[in-house]
Amino acid sequence: MNYNEAKLKLEAAGQEQLLNFYEELDEKEQETLLRQIDETDFSVVSQIGEQGGGKRGSFAPLAAMQRDEIVSREKEFRELGIKALQEGKAAALLLAGGMGTRLGSDNPKGMYDIGETKHVYIFQRIIENLLEVVKEAGTVPRLFIMTSESNHEATVSFLKEHKYFGYEEEKILFFRQAMAPACDKNGKVFLESKGRIAVSPNGNAGWFTSLLRAGYGELIDKEGIEWINIFAVDNVLQRILDPVFLGATIQAKVSTGSKVVRKNAPDEKVGVMCLEDGRPSIVEYYELSKEMMEARDEKGESAYNYGVILNYLFHLPELKKIAGNALPYHVVEKKIKHIDGSGTLIEPETPNGFKFEQLVLDMIHELDSCLPFEVIREKEFAPIKNLKGVDSVDTAKELLKLNGIEL
Ligand code: UTP
Repeated sequence: MNYNEAKLKLEAAGQEQLLNFYEELDEKEQETLLRQIDETDFSVVSQIGEQGGGKRGSFAPLAAMQRDEIVSREKEFRELGIKALQEGKAAALLLAGGMGTRLGSDNPKGMYDIGETKHVYIFQRIIENLLEVVKEAGTVPRLFIMTSESNHEATVSFLKEHKYFGYEEEKILFFRQAMAPACDKNGKVFLESKGRIAVSPNGNAGWFTSLLRAGYGELIDKEGIEWINIFAVDNVLQRILDPVFLGATIQAKVSTGSKVVRKNAPDEKVGVMCLEDGRPSIVEYYELSKEMMEARDEKGESAYNYGVILNYLFHLPELKKIAGNALPYHVVEKKIKHIDGSGTLIEPETPNGFKFEQLVLDMIHELDSCLPFEVIREKEFAPIKNLKGVDSVDTAKELLKLNGIEL
């Protein structure tokens, strides 16, 4: 794309400010900026003011498989899950493309050290959890790691330096997720520097298209991988490729399985698994009507009682069928570093603009069936989102200690 073409594209999108410093750049920098303008989809900005994901359909409860059933059928599920693992049918996929802005560290979130008397990195906790399954099944599943342009180098070199915390190197495959532009509250896309547009990872639903774009579709087919367990980087207690969850999901013949926890209060700020127009979906806490909060199941318990923890199993044959479906972009308010009109770097202390993300929950809604699988919160859910307070380093440390993990 040449300068004139870039100017036309930006004028049409109302983003001419991105060429403000063009004359000050050297030839190489100019070329890089023009390429970035060419590759960026500015239409996402039109999502501002829209209710993320558009108008919602009609909600109905989706019963979860509860602990009593899981415990009574554990042996059957475990055997099925172990068999699938031993046949190489299941892989893990770590979503580590996020920026972790709430934690406030410049490093990838997985590099955060939660140890007290020794180093205990978030990545280490995750891999150690996965290694328990490796030991039980006697096989090493593929571990895909999704990074982003912003944290790829740091993530790869950190894990290499720490010898992948004991995971077999050949089984780990990294790939980068796609990026989307970030803008101010009026929809004007920021410049990160004079020759670079501010972009951020395009949300955790980017994982499947980015995985295929990285060329791993063929390897997945060749190796006969049928199930992928995607999971967030920040839950330091979660079980990954849990054979019981895998077995229960396979046995239920569904397109996707979702680990869920019982809500700790009717208004807890967590997305709840449900049906929307007959398809699996996740209703956000602020979308729950009074009627939904009061609805009861046949046991007399709240019918919308199971919150998602970003640990899902996807059945690839079904996922491939919906791979081409466009997912909506959600507008997320964030702190965005940028340069102002005079070229001065601004590092905001409070959210100053928007990023655009596609979310896994919309992917689930494209599929036709889901098994919500109950896990015990205190044993499997210790997310690290913030430095202090709710879902923080402090709360996660406490939960780890309760589970006998030395820090
Ligand atoms: P969060 O929603 O907590 O976002 O991600 P975040 O970017 O990590 O953190 P904040 O909001 O800036 O503080 C949940 C999971 O999804 C991954 C994250 O790495 C985390 O595992 N994620 C999020 C991606 O992989 N890509 C994205 O674009 C966004």
